[in-house]
Amino acid sequence: MRILFLGDIVGSLGRATTAKLLPTIRKRDRVNLSLANAENIAHGRGATQETIEEVLASGVDYFTGGNHIFWQKSFYEEIEHLPVVRPANYPSGTPGRGEAVIDLGRLGRVLLISLLGRTFMRDVADDPFATVSEILEKHQGEDLQATIVDMHAEATSEHQAMGFYLDGRVTAVVGTHTHVGTVDARVLPGGTAYVTDVGMVGSLDSILGVKKEIIIQNYVSALPQRFDWEDLGPAIFNSVLIETDKGGLAKSIKRIDQVVD
Ligand code: FE2
Repeated sequence: MRILFLGDIVGSLGRATTAKLLPTIRKRDRVNLSLANAENIAHGRGATQETIEEVLASGVDYFTGGNHIFWQKSFYEEIEHLPVVRPANYPSGTPGRGEAVIDLGRLGRVLLISLLGRTFMRDVADDPFATVSEILEKHQGEDLQATIVDMHAEATSEHQAMGFYLDGRVTAVVGTHTHVGTVDARVLPGGTAYVTDVGMVGSLDSILGVKKEIIIQNYVSALPQRFDWEDLGPAIFNSVLIETDKGGLAKSIKRIDQVVD
């Protein structure tokens, strides 16, 4: 099975870039399942039913979350009936679910898990390592073709720790949140595909999707700046393509990155 994972889709430019490139990539690389992080999909601030449905139509099958996933209040309810997993290690009682089994018919079933790191993050979250172990134990013995974990974290060490912690137990651990793709995509010794950060789908000439002038001002001025997302100009499409093997581990992982003018 071939699974494509897109980095954080940021705002309208991210959605437009996905619509432009994904159908061709899906066909060209014979993608069976397309996943993406959606926490910034609605104008760089959380997600909405409308923006999720727009990107479903572009060919993403299921979405993961992160620390911004509930920035739009309407999403507290909307998430319940949309193909989106939010961090599994959020406190109990949080809307939505942290894991999902995606049924691809004769291709089999894929377990998708969303996790949130805790280093340099301000969210209230339980231990992601204990949480993911509990989830894997719960699904043990089920007929799963693949298990994909999105580790949404700030610290590269926490991404890497999760990669090695799950090496040999899941098909892939892919990192998101920094919006900057890393060059370390590889299959770890135990057979798990890994990348510290997939990157993003959004504005190329921005800082993490935000207008660069605003972030620069944040560093050179003491006055607070209002965030505004870059919707114009060239875009970057960051993703990884994971090929699974029969034993639920990974044969390969490679980056698919493209700039769109
Ligand atoms: Fe994030």
